[in-house]
Amino acid sequence: MKLLALFVLAAGFTYGQSTPSTNLKDAYKGLLRIGVAVNSQQFEERNPTDDAIIAAQFNSISPENALKWQTIHPQPDGYVFDSADHYVAFGEKHNMFIIGHCLVWHSQIPMWVFRDANGKPLTREALLERMHDHIRTVVGRYKGRINGWDVVNEALNDDGTMRQSPWYQIIGDDYIAKAFEFAHEADPKAELYYNDYSLENDAKRKGAVEMIRKLKAAGVPITGIGLQGHVKINGPTAEKEAETIEAFAALGIKVNISELDVDVLPRTTRSNSAEVSTNAAGGAQSNPYTQSLPEEMQQALAKRYGDLFEVFLQHHSSMERVTLWGLQDGESWLNNFPTRGRTNYALLFDRQDHPKPAFAAVLNAVKTDRETSHKKQKGDK
Ligand code: XIL
Repeated sequence: MKLLALFVLAAGFTYGQSTPSTNLKDAYKGLLRIGVAVNSQQFEERNPTDDAIIAAQFNSISPENALKWQTIHPQPDGYVFDSADHYVAFGEKHNMFIIGHCLVWHSQIPMWVFRDANGKPLTREALLERMHDHIRTVVGRYKGRINGWDVVNEALNDDGTMRQSPWYQIIGDDYIAKAFEFAHEADPKAELYYNDYSLENDAKRKGAVEMIRKLKAAGVPITGIGLQGHVKINGPTAEKEAETIEAFAALGIKVNISELDVDVLPRTTRSNSAEVSTNAAGGAQSNPYTQSLPEEMQQALAKRYGDLFEVFLQHHSSMERVTLWGLQDGESWLNNFPTRGRTNYALLFDRQDHPKPAFAAVLNAVKTDRETSHKKQKGDK
């Protein structure tokens, strides 16, 4: 089956009758880059079926876990670059726009980062020095090769106030400005983003807009925002998505959708947060599609993807990139988040690596958009 999928894709597969192009990256050329988060199997070229699809369909990659602090800098005096080196080499081999994710975050980071040799909390100066060293070393190593960095990830609470992370508690609220300055110093040409989830929610969005307005006013080198885009099948609405893109575009920064996926399963948490430490219990009724996704859900998912891409296309002049958080359903983190061990259907390819109706809907969105607005290919997106 996998071979068949590969053959069909390679031979110029068309899904439905009205497919404008055989692949996403060409269909969206000049409008949006289309990216995908990759895992180590893929960028170490141990999954040829996935790799053929990634190379054919996408022109940007993000590292799902390979550049996080705990992976790349697990010990105080030791960086481990093997995995990240493979990731960057994979992107270069396929001429992709390569994203680094992420430099300063409260998750997937060892606790020693915030403590001294005696286990006591670091001083502000010592933590700033540690942050500086990390950013200088990691960004510096890939200078001119990694094109855009998620410099700070998830610094805000759901109500738009500053998250009380160890970064904030020890350094204070200028830790964000410092992180951007250090990243800019290490690679002046790289794009630098603030990345977060739930920015469609009014309170959090207001906090983020205010924060970025202040950073810009102070001359901090921030070039874009990543709206993570871990959305549900029924929300946030396409209108909210449009409003959110416009709110950030008005600040004069580029807007990217950095981690798009669509959760089709019943909710098991009250908040819709993408806070990775969440681990909610869920009974059998929270996992209703263990065998397959019913046809009407499949169509609803396709419509949801189509509606979202319609909004992205309407805003393409303020945007650069839409990145899917994974290639195929079996590899999606949403099988284990916010509840472990479920069967989710969040992405554009199924567990056999076949394109889903959602894939056709994303292609169809750009075909319709080009037909109605006569958009031609332009620029280098
Ligand atoms: C997720 C990865 O997909 C998982 O493999 C990992 O176990 C946890 O992190 N927001 C982010 C991403 O910024 O780094 C997270 O990725 C998903 C939520």
